[in-house]
Amino acid sequence: MNVSHYLIGIGFYGAMVFAAWIEGAANLGVWDINDVDWSLKSSYILNPHVIIALSLYVYASWHQHTCHQILANIRSKTRDPSSSSSQSNVYQIPRGDWFESVVCPHYLADILIYVSMCILNKWQNLTLLAGLFWTIINLTVTASETEEWYKKSFGSKYKKTFVRGRWVILPGIY
Ligand SMILES: NC(=O)c1ccc[n+]([C@@H]2O[C@H](COP(=O)([O-])OP(=O)(O)OC[C@H]3O[C@@H](n4cnc5c(N)ncnc54)[C@H](OP(=O)(O)O)[C@@H]3O)[C@@H](O)[C@H]2O)c1
Repeated sequence: MNVSHYLIGIGFYGAMVFAAWIEGAANLGVWDINDVDWSLKSSYILNPHVIIALSLYVYASWHQHTCHQILANIRSKTRDPSSSSSQSNVYQIPRGDWFESVVCPHYLADILIYVSMCILNKWQNLTLLAGLFWTIINLTVTASETEEWYKKSFGSKYKKTFVRGRWVILPGIY
């Protein structure tokens, strides 16, 4: 990672959170207190789209956490005990959970989290739609490069590990 990645990340998440909140609040009529539908609050959570969105959010977040844990464990397990660093810089083929069928399952989970937020906003929040679009493009390019890197770095071992192949990021699509 270089400094431009940090700047893009800070800009993206800063702008995304702020803009999604402003747009969401405007859609709900929060800017005009007389327009707020207060009955929304009590019954809102029982709407099918809210239940689907929250379930997908929790499901995807759980898998993203599990996949991040798998990646982190590679580093802590391959650490040299005589080194002062708490992590090694060894790369291995991650195994387990969604890694068995997808090259970058943590990216897939990220996309599903955006999908869940779009569902929650009934696909009406343009900021979140733009965020979803950006995330799909950005992470698909990165996942594709990651797949190439695994093939180059682990060669026949990689092929033998996943004889039936894996999806790069979006199961059934790519
Ligand atoms: N919404 C967006 O546009 C967006 C953009 C970027 C990231 N994200 C999210 O942020 C999270 C992290 O993304 P990322 O691009 O930093 O993920 P990543 O490149 O896969 O790296 C995650 C961590 O795992 C390590 N790692 C990856 N593969 C490894 C392997 N084979 N063996 C050992 N260690 C390995 C990496 O080490 P190294 O640092 O040494 O590679 C890094 O510390 C993801 O969940 C992603 O979805 C979202």
